Amino acid sequence: TATTYTLPIIVHVINNGEPVGVGSNISQAQVQSQLDVLNEDYRNRNTDGTLVPSAFQPLRSDMQVQFVPASIDPDGNVMAEPGIDRVDRNAKGWTAPPYGSSTSLSYIEGTIKPSTYWDPNRYLNIWVLNLGGGLLGYAQFPDNTAGLGGLSALGGSAATDGVVILYAAFGRVGTLTAPYNKGRTLTHELGHWFGLRHIWGDDERLTNTCSGSDYADDTPNQAVQNYGCPTYPHVTCANDPNGDMFMDYMDYVDDACMQMFSASQKDRLQAIMAAGTPRRSILA
Ligand code: ARG
Ligand code: ZN
Ligand code: CA
Repeated sequence: TATTYTLPIIVHVINNGEPVGVGSNISQAQVQSQLDVLNEDYRNRNTDGTLVPSAFQPLRSDMQVQFVPASIDPDGNVMAEPGIDRVDRNAKGWTAPPYGSSTSLSYIEGTIKPSTYWDPNRYLNIWVLNLGGGLLGYAQFPDNTAGLGGLSALGGSAATDGVVILYAAFGRVGTLTAPYNKGRTLTHELGHWFGLRHIWGDDERLTNTCSGSDYADDTPNQAVQNYGCPTYPHVTCANDPNGDMFMDYMDYVDDACMQMFSASQKDRLQAIMAAGTPRRSILA
């Protein structure tokens, strides 16, 4: 039996002092568009769900999580811009962006997050900033009190809990760069935050790319990550006739081509939330 969770989000907009709506100081409308995407994707209400091939349609799942902008700040004050915390890096004395690359996230993890996070027992923290190295985003995994396969016992510290997203890949209205302009980077990264693994099993560097698992038993075994917008069916690891479930949010395809979570992925998310995992169910 699944539960519906409603999570308050705080988006830390780490900017370079630009006017609101310019560059990394993204607009309220851009933030709202991202919340809209999440509330569609995590409730299986995304209109492009109809594009999922018929073989996978029965697996499309309502994750039963919805997201609202935080309306009261940690001091108990009503927020002028619900869900948004604007931070000018100049006022903090921080170095100029970009702040992280695929090889080093230390400035974000060591400086930016610890000095801006809101109590992760009360808020879901999202940092939007200028990332380097072609990285679109990354997440911190949950503690694994649920005992799921493929997760470490401990996720990470409270001061770094949440998700980081490149400002140009956040939401579907505003300052965006195709093909990552439909808000699916946060859909994907929050999947990790809820304990989901990559659908191909993270074995892309192993000799046998059919040996890994995502610990979700209804997602076909798949060789490596897919990019772009593959043609169905894309058969690997003897997963014919239907092939890879490349339209799952936990693959790496273009935003316009990712459209579903599966039933087993829902079970994992619900297990993480139900287990009372610190900083997950607590904030609901
Ligand atoms: N962590 C991945 C990256 O930075 C996220 C990929 C998300 N994919 C997407 N189509 N939005 O590459
Ligand atoms: Zn990922
Ligand atoms: Ca694989």
